[in-house]
Amino acid sequence: MSRRVTFTDLGRTFEVPDNANLREACLREGVPLYRGIARLTNCGGRARCGTCRVTVEDGGGRLSDPTPPERERKGDDGRVCRLACQANVRGDVEMRRGW
Ligand code: FES
Repeated sequence: MSRRVTFTDLGRTFEVPDNANLREACLREGVPLYRGIARLTNCGGRARCGTCRVTVEDGGGRLSDPTPPERERKGDDGRVCRLACQANVRGDVEMRRGW
């Protein structure tokens, strides 16, 4: 089963397999998730740099729950703003880059 991911700031929608990691899906689809130097200096998906942030506009409950490292880094319940590297897609979602 596939899920639909929409980036409203890019006007772009693509499909991913159920439970796909959001960061990996973005990289595979060529979505410019990172800005500037973060393209080179990001932590590679270990929840350490925070540069893969997205703001979820619709379907936040259709992403996997925030991981402990993500909760620790963000300091909130993580339901609206997420780290793409820590989120798996379990339903159709809409978001924009950054927060
Ligand atoms: S890639 Fe560094 S926090 Fe997600």
